[in-house]
Order: sequence, then C-alpha cells, then structure tokens
Amino acid sequence: MAKAYLDVKDLHKSFGDFKAVNGVSFTIEKGEIFGLLGPNGAGKTTTIRMLTTVLAADAGEILIGGHSVKKDSEKVRSLIGVCPQDLALYEDLNAIDNLVFFGRMAGLSGLAAKSQAMTNLELMGLQERAKGKVAKFSGGMKRRINLAITLMGDPQILFLDEPTVGIDPQSRNHIYESILNLQKQGKTILYTTHYMEEAERLCQRVAIMDGGVIIAIDTPRHLKAQIGDPDKVTLEDVFLHLTGRSLRDS
Ligand SMILES: Nc1ncnc2c1ncn2[C@@H]1O[C@H](COP(=O)(O)OP(=O)(O)O)[C@@H](O)[C@H]1O
Ligand SMILES: [Mg+2]
Repeated sequence: MAKAYLDVKDLHKSFGDFKAVNGVSFTIEKGEIFGLLGPNGAGKTTTIRMLTTVLAADAGEILIGGHSVKKDSEKVRSLIGVCPQDLALYEDLNAIDNLVFFGRMAGLSGLAAKSQAMTNLELMGLQERAKGKVAKFSGGMKRRINLAITLMGDPQILFLDEPTVGIDPQSRNHIYESILNLQKQGKTILYTTHYMEEAERLCQRVAIMDGGVIIAIDTPRHLKAQIGDPDKVTLEDVFLHLTGRSLRDS
C-alpha cells in the first residue's frame, strides 16, 4: 500500500485548561485534496499551525513526506506551503514584489523568484496586475495573491486555511479552478472551509471536526449515505446531523 504523504497521529494541544485539539489522527495521500471541515472554534487552524511547524504540539506525531515535523522541521518547511486564514501580504508593495519577497524567504535566487512569481501570478489570473499595489486590490484579489505566495518555492503539500472566505463568486471560482490545476500538477492539498458545496466539489475525502476532535472522516458520498440517499442529502445535512450545529456558528 502506498504510504500517506501526511500522517498525523493522536495530536493534542491545550491553551491553559482548554483543549483546542484533543486527539486528532488522519492521513492524506499524495495528490489528494483533503477537506478539514468544522464550525468556528473547532480546532482547524490550531491543527494546521501544528502541522506547519508554527505551533508545537503537546503530544502526537506528524510525518510529512516521511519526515517528522518535530525532529526535522527544516526539511518539512521545504515541502510545505501555507496559506494563512488571515491575509499575510505587504500592502505597500506591488503584487510581483510580494511574491518575490516570499520566494527569497523560501530560499530562491532573485532570478528564480521572479520567474516563479510570474508563473504563479498567471496561475491565479493576476498577471496583468503584477505591477499593481496590493493595497488597491479587491478582497478576492488579495486572497488570490495570498494563494500565489503560498506556491513560491514550489511546495509539495499545500495547507489552505479558508482561502475563499468572504470573497466574490468570480474570485472563488478562480480559486477552485486553480486548486484543481494544482492537483493535476501532483500537489497534495489540505483545505479548510465553512462552505460545504466547496468541499463536495473539491475534496476526495473530508474530516468533520468539532470541539477539538474528528467526529467523521470519509468521502463526501459515503458520509451522505450514512444519513440518507447520497444523491439527495448534502454535506451540510451530514454536518448538522452529526453536530447539531450550524457551520456558521461562532
Ligand atoms: N493562541 C491561543 N490561545 C488561546 N486560545 C486559543 C488560541 N488559539 C486558538 N484558541 C482557541 O482554540 C479553539 C480553536 O481555535 P481554532 O483552531 O482557531 O479553530 P477554527 O480554526 O476551527 O475556527 C478556539 O476556541 C480558540 O479560541
Ligand atoms: Mg480557523
């Protein structure tokens, strides 16, 4: 059997007495788009921060590309691309300089950074705005720049934390298409979202998280079949059935 590209075992994280992540385990296969779904406060971002070496886990084991996040964090950082939930951009710089800056941070030469920046801007449909100051961009365009930055350094696995939250439908559609293109290029993707139809459209498998634990994990179709006719019920129905809560609760 092929080894999973990402392997998480029994991950824990508390803030004071509060258990934000309480024994999370899952795997992601190479080339898979895996959805981590759950209401605000479920522990999705905390999980991503541990997987991406930002936050140390209290307990548990994480392997990415066969490398331990704890023991070999430098190697792991060379394999991952992170698109944070909150935009991380230099508003005063233009689009291309933002990408070049983050490319240089990822260890690219000036020339390589520039060339990757153009490729990634094109992928996100922003090549014509390369010289535009980011402060003037719409919310959707900023999200697309955020995603283009994630691709600098050509990471093998992408962690996309709610990349389509609060944006216009065109930008959202563009982001869907780009993510599917990235999958065709062989990237492995962990995706968190509030939007169930997004998860159904993009993800081969999803995990539903609530209160720091994963309460269900399977293909969208199998999850739907657990509560009814998979052609009639939606993932949102599954979510409500399992948690009794609306996804948009805060
Ligand atoms: N640095 C922190 N200090 C204290 N509590 C935190 C911290 N980060 C997250 N939390 C809490 O942990 C829970 C999970 O948060 P988070 O992982 O951001 O959830 P999600 O991304 O699913 O909305 C929330 O109740 C949040 O308030
Ligand atoms: Mg979050």
